[in-house]
Amino acid sequence: MKVSVIGTGYVGLVTGVCLSEIGNEVICVDKVKEKINILKDGNCPIYEPSLENFIKNNISRGRLSFTNNISEAVKKSDIIFISVGTPSLPNGQADLSFVEQVAMEIGKFIDDGKIVVNKSTVPIGSGDWVSMIISESIDNNNPKKKVNFDVVSNPEFLREGSAVEDTFFPERIIIGSSSKNAIDKMLELYKPLIEQSFNWPDDKARPISKSQKVPVVITDLTSAEMIKYASNSFLATKISFINEIANICEKVGADVKAVAKGMGLDKRIGPLFLNAGIGWGGSCFPKDVSALTYIASEYGMTPQILNAVINVNKEQRLKIVKKVQDEIKIVKGKTIAVLGISFKPNTDDTREAPSVSIMNSLSKLGAKIKTYDPIVKERPDSLTEKVKICRDEYDTVKDADILILATEWGKFAELDFNRVKQLMNSHIIIDGRNLFDRDHLKSLGFRYIGIGR
Ligand code: UDX
Repeated sequence: MKVSVIGTGYVGLVTGVCLSEIGNEVICVDKVKEKINILKDGNCPIYEPSLENFIKNNISRGRLSFTNNISEAVKKSDIIFISVGTPSLPNGQADLSFVEQVAMEIGKFIDDGKIVVNKSTVPIGSGDWVSMIISESIDNNNPKKKVNFDVVSNPEFLREGSAVEDTFFPERIIIGSSSKNAIDKMLELYKPLIEQSFNWPDDKARPISKSQKVPVVITDLTSAEMIKYASNSFLATKISFINEIANICEKVGADVKAVAKGMGLDKRIGPLFLNAGIGWGGSCFPKDVSALTYIASEYGMTPQILNAVINVNKEQRLKIVKKVQDEIKIVKGKTIAVLGISFKPNTDDTREAPSVSIMNSLSKLGAKIKTYDPIVKERPDSLTEKVKICRDEYDTVKDADILILATEWGKFAELDFNRVKQLMNSHIIIDGRNLFDRDHLKSLGFRYIGIGR
């Protein structure tokens, strides 16, 4: 099928590239010329393992192209995905200005029988709003033109760092629409994913076997939009829950890793997203949980659980600062090494990263902060300039009075801790993600402080 994807951020780019890989003709649109030029050269502007190969392969197959020209893309496509950002406004509300702008542009060029798909995470009820904006734009630009089109909600569940796999091997596909034609077209588009019939590189393991089918939930627009918000909010709730349990474990002397293991064996709970640590960050959980609380408040509700989930998370990252003060008393003038800047491993994204909040807070207390991340080489704008970005882990820990593990990059677990001990000024480690082998570090003479253990 002929598809255009408007907005080549994480979601849009991965969606467009993967749809071209399964045989569709895809045009990816973005207003940022530099980004389009990088993509036209077959390069990838985001850190997403394996995506670049798929970009290059599908450009050479002639199935994937990139443009700044939205009119060309809309006119040539049967299905038009809106995948532009919906960042949070200061009051937690989702900023829909980019979606509105794109919907107005689509209205200028759309023809009969096309399908517009909301891939962006948009507030509940926005599907109808997008339909209204497109219709108004049609009337303003082509008053005599009668255009029948459908709007579909098709939320994504991509995790940064595994977005390609999450696209090819989704746990479910959600289609929100009241139009049979639109639903049929979306089922046709996603058929290779639903049936798992696409070819996958032999040297890569398939998380879902070819015989397994992907479940499809077909529902109304609003319910589809709610599935996205409720899913992300539940995952954030699960993490804030285990972090609260971790905090109680510290008081009673329990080990939260053992507790999480015991809990997770219950199929109703499950083992995933029960890793206690310094809390959740990224571009989705903070935005989506805030947006859902805002939507509730618009209807005069107080979402007590969601507010608690947000508050526990805010406090969790700052518990590290308290632990530092408990350990070294006077922070001013001390050297603190922080391993990891990205909000989680296997991504270069530092949005709402707990590591950034922690380094900014300790820097305000007068500490000298040194940090390192395997992928994040440039200082994020959100990180104070006082922090020194080091060239490797050992340069980071040199002369440090305390070492904080903020992001659980696998390579940090492989450190030569005998060498770390020789380099550090004193031997205190705060393991913000419970990554390290506590007994091994203690046997080397480190004072080990974990989260909930
Ligand atoms: C999330 C959802 O998983 C995904 O389905 C949705 O489409 C987008 O938002 P992402 O934000 O990329 O994906 O990261 P995810 O892997 O979910 O982690 C989110 C945050 O939770 C990270 O800061 C991570 O460090 C934290 N986390 C995750 C924990 O603290 N403990 C856990 O057990 C799991």
